[in-house]
Amino acid sequence: MEKILILDFGGQYNQLIARRVREQHVYCELHPHTMSLEEIRRFGPIGIIFTGGPHSVYLDSSPRPDPGVFRLGVPILGICYGCQLLAQSLGGLVTAAQDAAAREYGKTETVFDPTCSLFRGLPEKSVTWMSHGDYMARVPEGFRLAAHSSACPTAAICDEQRRFYGVQFHPEVDHTVCGREMLHNFLYLVCGAHGDWTMADFKRRSVEELRARVGKGRVLLALSGGVDSSVLAALLSEAVGEQLCCVFVDHGLLRKDEGDEVEAAFSGRALDFRRVDASGRFLERLRGVTEPEQKRHIIGEEFIRVFETEARKLGAVDFLAQGTIYPDVIESGLGQSAVIKSHHNVGGLPDTVAFKEILEPLRLLFKDEVRQLGRELGLPESLVSRQPFPGPGLAIRVIGEVTAEKLALLREADAIFREEMAKAGLDRIASQYFAVLTDLRSVGVMGDGRSYDRAVALRSVQTSDFMTADWSRLPYELLDRVSVRIVNEVKGVNRVLYDITSKPPATVEYE
Ligand code: XMP
Repeated sequence: MEKILILDFGGQYNQLIARRVREQHVYCELHPHTMSLEEIRRFGPIGIIFTGGPHSVYLDSSPRPDPGVFRLGVPILGICYGCQLLAQSLGGLVTAAQDAAAREYGKTETVFDPTCSLFRGLPEKSVTWMSHGDYMARVPEGFRLAAHSSACPTAAICDEQRRFYGVQFHPEVDHTVCGREMLHNFLYLVCGAHGDWTMADFKRRSVEELRARVGKGRVLLALSGGVDSSVLAALLSEAVGEQLCCVFVDHGLLRKDEGDEVEAAFSGRALDFRRVDASGRFLERLRGVTEPEQKRHIIGEEFIRVFETEARKLGAVDFLAQGTIYPDVIESGLGQSAVIKSHHNVGGLPDTVAFKEILEPLRLLFKDEVRQLGRELGLPESLVSRQPFPGPGLAIRVIGEVTAEKLALLREADAIFREEMAKAGLDRIASQYFAVLTDLRSVGVMGDGRSYDRAVALRSVQTSDFMTADWSRLPYELLDRVSVRIVNEVKGVNRVLYDITSKPPATVEYE
């Protein structure tokens, strides 16, 4: 398989670069810039990308790759810091931009030389996304200028002979109008890629590998109904059929019809599927609990307990399958830009269930690839394109004590909101949207009578990474329709609020 190596220098868009490369059907991996020459050789890339980063290349303490990387004969594309690194390492000069105008941030009109392979076939002028305070004052020998903006004469450089390219701007972000095409040129024209990375191939290879590795062993999977574990279940059932046992712990905190949908998606497949209705247990443990962290803790612990009980019934298994995906791998310390966030829905399982090995067949895939794989495996779109849903489920969307009655109200209100968002075609545009049952009660008038009922809050956000988010500017007509329907159709709710807080200072969820 053709591979691109992305060396990570700590930039904030590093994962995005990797996703953009994979979107073009070329496999890539993100590795720390400290990767040794020997490891790079063993990896065998057809091209290398240096990412951006927050450092200045002229400081001694700045991160650098093994200098041997320039002698491998492999094409290199440097982005922002990576571009400056390329220039400085090969004899150019990079300095802090003295003139404030030479520092560029944001959308910048840029002029390209279309004879440079990177820009071949593209318009000579278009907008790029710049974000740099340093600039290349002298271009290294063998290089020529390939793009400029009004503030910066050295927006891109190239050495076609050695196949080295550097861009000061970020081709991976959407604001760079022809960014995808530039990456495409690098991958296909410069590195000679053929585009052999598709989910159909991945599926075929994974099934073969899993069969070889699992042999006649038994595999256990905790299925949450989320995208990752559902796709994993489908992949494993295709690979090892009835040797797979999926335990679906239904904690009773799922959205309307969700548990049945999960069950339906797996009922026709060859696997041992066990749905455990544990809603009573969870509600019992949550009785009287109002503190958010305590709720989360109880749910996490109870989940493990239910799972353990089921696993014990099965006896020893050979493999425990986990739905780890590539962003989890990167975030737990592989990359330099690591924003560490430990989100383990089923944390602690490996210590408490008897098994020999862990299987993580999705650990090299990004979320959009996992969804694509799910489609290849024939999972329904409702499961595959499901928006993120927290492990503790609706318990953290019912403010205060969780009761069966409140959960029922919330499920109905949430289903109406989701239905109307889908009808308006906004379900694919909003990153995440849901209803929350607040603990506010207020006076209303319905018909000729007074009501004193609950308030539902609607939340919809736009985000690419969920670390920050903005509230969605939903059309008033849609909000109106949802509000009228909720108040009319959900008995016990007399007020609907729309949340217009971004993250930070708020979070996406309420608890
Ligand atoms: P916050 O509320 O932290 O949410 O802004 C960011 C994203 O994470 C999801 N989330 C969770 N996902 N287990 C999960 O698997 C959790 O405990 C959890 N809490 C929040 C949230 O839905 C949003 O997408």
